[in-house]
Amino acid sequence: MRLQRFLALSGVASRRASEALITSGRVSVNGRIVTRLGTNVDPQRDTVEVDGKSVQEERKLYVLLNKPAGYLTAVADARGRSTVSDLVAGLPARLYPVGRLDMDTEGVLLLTNDGDFSFRLAHPRFGVEKVYHATVAGKPGAADIEALKRGVDIGGVVTSPAKVRMFKAGSRHSTIEITIHEGRKRQVKRMCKAIGHPVIRLRRIEYGGIRLGNLKPGQHRLLTHAEIESLRRKTELNV
Ligand code: URA
Repeated sequence: MRLQRFLALSGVASRRASEALITSGRVSVNGRIVTRLGTNVDPQRDTVEVDGKSVQEERKLYVLLNKPAGYLTAVADARGRSTVSDLVAGLPARLYPVGRLDMDTEGVLLLTNDGDFSFRLAHPRFGVEKVYHATVAGKPGAADIEALKRGVDIGGVVTSPAKVRMFKAGSRHSTIEITIHEGRKRQVKRMCKAIGHPVIRLRRIEYGGIRLGNLKPGQHRLLTHAEIESLRRKTELNV
């Protein structure tokens, strides 16, 4: 793999800053300073050092966060808003969110430094299911639920068939459970708007079978080995 990618994956610096480290002569491979970008290294065999300090490949971490409302799904924000990275700052790795939840959406958010795994999980081709509890205005009728199941036009595109059920009906607001495997921008909100019942509160309760359990909003935990393997199988079966 390319040296700058290895440095970035190892958590030394961002890709851009890693390139600057290389061109300024601070990086050596097997004892020799390398200033050329694009030099290839084998993380298993080569010894890479920055300022004379050895760089190890970063351990892969897989994290489940119960995202509270009010946090941006991003690693950093130029406008200084709070991001989900702030909530996992204590972990020894640069973690990236798998997909995206809106600022006001709560619930299951996976984060990892395993880029390939993250790509597969978030890509609609692999069909990993996400389950949402959408609290909406009013009480959608049976025909509305059927429309959501079949697919609705959310502005130029019709959503794929989804699993939908009434979770809690009320006259002023109701909660519907929606299971989708696509990940279009603001999809659930647009689906509910399309049936005339705008979302008041949105929570993702499950991602590929991973549920919140008793994690409180703002808390995170590492996924277990069994959970990681189960997610891995889900992204392989449907290729
Ligand atoms: N659908 C939405 O509308 N918002 C989210 O955050 C996730 C899915």
